[in-house]
Amino acid sequence: MFCFLLFLPHIAISQTFISLDGFIVAGDDKAPGHWLSPSGDFAFGFCQIENSDSFLLTTWFDKIPEKTIVWHAKGSHPVPTGSRLVVTSGRGLVLNDPKGGFLWSTETVVSRVTHGFFEDSGNFGLKDERNGTAWESFDSPTDTILPGQEIQTNGVVLIAQRSGSDLTGEGRFRLYLQDGTVQLRTVNFPSTYQNEPYYVSDDSNASTNPSKGIGFNSSTGYLYILHQNGEKSPLARGNKVVSSKDYYLRATLEFDGVFIQYSYPKKTSARERKWSAIWSAPDNICITTHVQFGSGICGYNRICKLGVDKRPKCECPRGFSLLNQSDEYTGCIPNFSQGCRVGDPSSSQDEFVLDEVVNINWPTSDYERLQPFGEDDCKDSCLRDCMCAVAIFGGDTCWKKKLPLSNGRYEINPNSKAFVKMRKYGSETQSPGSPSSGSNKDNALIIAGSVLLGSSVFLNFMLMAAVGLGFFLIYQKKLSRIFVDESGLDVNIRCFTYRELEDATNGFKEELGRGSFGIVYRGDIEAGNGSNSRTEVAIKKLDRLFQESEREFKTEVLVIGQTHHKNLVRLLGYCNEGQNRLLVYEYLSNGTLASFLFGNEMKPSWERRVQIALDVGKGLLYLHEECSTQIIHCDIKPQNILLDENYGARISDFGLAKLLLLSQTHTNTAIRGTRGYVAPEWFRNSPITVKVDVYSFGVLLLEIICCRRSVDIEIGGEDKVILADWAYDCYREKMIDALVENDEEALSDFKRLERFVMVAIWCIQEDPSLRPTMKKVMLMLEGIIQVSTPPCPFPFSTISTV
Ligand SMILES: *[C@@H]1O[C@H](CO)[C@@H](O)[C@H](O)[C@H]1NC(C)=O
Repeated sequence: MFCFLLFLPHIAISQTFISLDGFIVAGDDKAPGHWLSPSGDFAFGFCQIENSDSFLLTTWFDKIPEKTIVWHAKGSHPVPTGSRLVVTSGRGLVLNDPKGGFLWSTETVVSRVTHGFFEDSGNFGLKDERNGTAWESFDSPTDTILPGQEIQTNGVVLIAQRSGSDLTGEGRFRLYLQDGTVQLRTVNFPSTYQNEPYYVSDDSNASTNPSKGIGFNSSTGYLYILHQNGEKSPLARGNKVVSSKDYYLRATLEFDGVFIQYSYPKKTSARERKWSAIWSAPDNICITTHVQFGSGICGYNRICKLGVDKRPKCECPRGFSLLNQSDEYTGCIPNFSQGCRVGDPSSSQDEFVLDEVVNINWPTSDYERLQPFGEDDCKDSCLRDCMCAVAIFGGDTCWKKKLPLSNGRYEINPNSKAFVKMRKYGSETQSPGSPSSGSNKDNALIIAGSVLLGSSVFLNFMLMAAVGLGFFLIYQKKLSRIFVDESGLDVNIRCFTYRELEDATNGFKEELGRGSFGIVYRGDIEAGNGSNSRTEVAIKKLDRLFQESEREFKTEVLVIGQTHHKNLVRLLGYCNEGQNRLLVYEYLSNGTLASFLFGNEMKPSWERRVQIALDVGKGLLYLHEECSTQIIHCDIKPQNILLDENYGARISDFGLAKLLLLSQTHTNTAIRGTRGYVAPEWFRNSPITVKVDVYSFGVLLLEIICCRRSVDIEIGGEDKVILADWAYDCYREKMIDALVENDEEALSDFKRLERFVMVAIWCIQEDPSLRPTMKKVMLMLEGIIQVSTPPCPFPFSTISTV
């Protein structure tokens, strides 16, 4: 079956031919509304705008259920039903309204067009008399690049949409080819002034080898920079090869500024058919952005927080509200007036309080620096100063900031605090400067705008606060929850100095084990409850692979620190000092599941093994579906499962794989070249999803059932070497009892034994889409839902036992 795929004949590039005068009509039952590429993958034509009678001239992926538009005619606007697009000899494509009035054309056409063509790559073009290309859609991209596309330009390449739904509005985010690098920048509307880039591709080649274009290789799936000497350097270094043979691919500059390369499985039988990101830039858009003139990513007075998907999530600080509820990026305004009054510069101090937040920063917008200065003085100074909106205090320095605040971001920084000024609850309505209730809302909005532009008159603005009071109360509740979570970090996870951990481990003396990410040492730290008692901990010294990624490390530690589940090993603290990255975990007394299962002459009891399997399943289910940030473990194996004093199983090392995905994947898979715990998609060019853990869980489950390793060359009989193969053979031959040998306890619980084996076989299906989710796995293990007969897990592989 596998070979069959390899011998498929090479498919030549073919085109759909569209003759002169060929036309399509928007929203007409009797005339075609679009043309299809030969394979039917792409459509070019009129696409109806949701909830409207208007259409846009676009290119889209036609075989994908969710509409994915990859191109639209620049400068064209939504057109009414009955509009008509025709291939003409003199003006190329011409778009007319239903009455024949001119709307749009491919103006660049100079020679006489003979016909139109539509390629399987998604490129629509026009040929001229000399068989040259008179125009092609690939030459005028919008926000997306497709495989096979090569854009030769310097300057703007892609322009993001204004929002996720508005196709025609141009957004602030742009992708440039500039100085030999690919750069992402915002522009300041309505001008095209470019702010400092928030992403610049590797420029090691840039000075010696100027660039002339950017392209997308369809066989490797790499984006590349085309240099003037014809060389190509990959843009997305280190990402996996995902060929457009098996996947639909695109790279889109999203409306929120992140440039993402996506894949979508072509196989219709794949269960998880959705666009998944295989590469994106920048790594942390919130932190890499630092513009001098402009708001940053999220808008003024906002906070940019990175989501798991590496997309920015924008929030208003407490006491602030969105300026325009229907546009996320308009920025936030305070729900109160600043309190500066003529002749009364500090009268307002008892009307305000400072809201202390951690890990929030606005690195620009400073107007005063006080140093050396104490924390209380800093707060006092801001409170007394009617110009001060925020004070940031760290070390011995106090930064006072004014509105509007720009470049707001969430960033972990245990050494500084932000104090956001807000009005004491209720004091606003008693303030003597209250406006009459006669002023209207528009008025308030205009004033709000002018305040943001630097005016200090802010009094009439109050009405808005009154109008929005209901909203404000709800919002404030929500925000306080967010901030409590964030500040909780400091309470839950401790930041250690290297020295402290050196002391705790007695100079890293007692080694507990060596894992895939580093060496684990035994140590003890102060219990932290005020007493002198000490708690035993396991301290993992991560090896040098982590050294390059200080920021990611912090992000990951935060994610790990937010997970709380009884089947996960608790992270107590970390150290991130110079070249040293260490993680401090709770110490578990009963060692690893590996030594428990394989280390004894006697098999552990069946009942206990069942419990362990359920525990690991629950921990994984939590990581995949229940914690606030989805975590793919990527390295589930008995060495990474620890047992507490009651033999409760807990997963360790979760959250670390993400840091290593780019750098270590290949070494890992090379080392474990046999079918061990590693899902087959690691060896292929498929995206890595939670299903890799389901696979490993299946292998682990078999090991727990059989009390033997997944690969054991010393075991008698060649057909038994690979546990997964042997288990499936036994299941197929109805000899499940052979799997547990003489385990009376397991045999007396035969129904459950059989169920567990069947679930394991479902989990190790070579096709990830056939594997159940962990939720379903748990329901099946617990006998809540029926387990159907699993198919052969390895239909594509040559089975080793021939
Ligand atoms: C795409 O990559 C392959 C493999 O590196 C190479 O042979 C081919 O020439 C590339 N195609 C383009 C258009 O760059």
